[in-house]
Amino acid sequence: MFADRTSWNLATNRLADALARHRATGKPLFDLTVSNPTECGFVYDHDAILRALSNPAAAIYQPEPRGLATARRAIAEYYAARGCDVPVEDILLTTSTSEAYSFVFRLLCNPGDELLIPAPSYPLFDFLADIQDVKLIRYPLFYDHGWQIDFHALEQAITPRTRGVIVVHPNNPTGHYTNSAAMERLNEICSPGNLAIIADEVFLDFSLTQELHPSFAANRQSLTFTMSGLSKIAGLPQMKAAWLITSGPEQWKSEARARLEVIADAYLSMNAPIQLAVPSFLQQRHAFQEQLMARVRDNLHELDRQIAAQDSCARLEVEGGWYVVLRVPATCPDEDLAVDLLESSGVYVHPGHFYDFPNDGYLVASLITPGRDFAEGIRRVLARF
Ligand SMILES: Cc1ncc(COP(=O)(O)O)c(C=O)c1O
Repeated sequence: MFADRTSWNLATNRLADALARHRATGKPLFDLTVSNPTECGFVYDHDAILRALSNPAAAIYQPEPRGLATARRAIAEYYAARGCDVPVEDILLTTSTSEAYSFVFRLLCNPGDELLIPAPSYPLFDFLADIQDVKLIRYPLFYDHGWQIDFHALEQAITPRTRGVIVVHPNNPTGHYTNSAAMERLNEICSPGNLAIIADEVFLDFSLTQELHPSFAANRQSLTFTMSGLSKIAGLPQMKAAWLITSGPEQWKSEARARLEVIADAYLSMNAPIQLAVPSFLQQRHAFQEQLMARVRDNLHELDRQIAAQDSCARLEVEGGWYVVLRVPATCPDEDLAVDLLESSGVYVHPGHFYDFPNDGYLVASLITPGRDFAEGIRRVLARF
């Protein structure tokens, strides 16, 4: 009855089962996986948010495949504030970065074509690729004084079917940015090979250092698709507003833009009230980002304080983003450890294998967890060793 591409294993995993059992007991849960910013105790200007949604211009339907110009101009201003010049006509609005990924996958790949993705990274890619009949090939990152791309392995992974390389900048959950030397190396590989760079920058603004990390939207050497959105930048995942920027050599760029416009025109998925509210939502990002970074810094500080008081566990370096990777003794598979932490300590953390860590001994915790839960959850994790 159904297409092969949807023949997923739909059974819940052991950790999800353990979580449901724990919740059913009604015992306290220290959830260190929270990633929904609207449920983390941040203060939003609800009046301003709702006012932005009641623009009378929304009473008129103005179908525009790339999205309303007012919203795209506000996005160009967002990049200009970072010192990055993005022409308004190179921006296309989507309802999520996931939708932006699917447009790019459709643009670049015939069924069975390949895209390179980093490992470890964000687990949603597999489903997005399955739905678009794209084959994902992992290229490893390795940890040596911070995270690095294994460029040798990346080049070995390229086949005649490879259409592009995905980078997450900064990566989830490793929290490292692609530095300028790595960007240069990616261009040296992608440009002559006619491979596109697909850059996911949803966490770009959440840097823990003073450095202003350049966006891939400024990249002109290879055909580049840069995506981001309000889910993370403004902490508004419920608004379903994101964007896709095309840059690169002029001829490739204009051809890609024209084809993307046809894909977008076939859906016209953005709704008017949200598009009209984008300038206001982007304005509101500053207050959100300030609170979020204060939370991330406080939690990292607390983590380091607790780690300093024991000698079994450590954490990996983090340059930005919302997550931290804990290095714990690899005495059992990470999933067993995560299930055990839930059952015996009431702490919910993600095992490294959810993110394709190459071996056991890694747990991932969310740094946007409310402070008291974070401190107690970490205390319970460390007490396990
Ligand atoms: C790296 C990365 N990209 C994209 C997304 C999803 O963003 P959106 O809500 O815009 O689809 C997430 C969500 O956690 C993410 O971690």
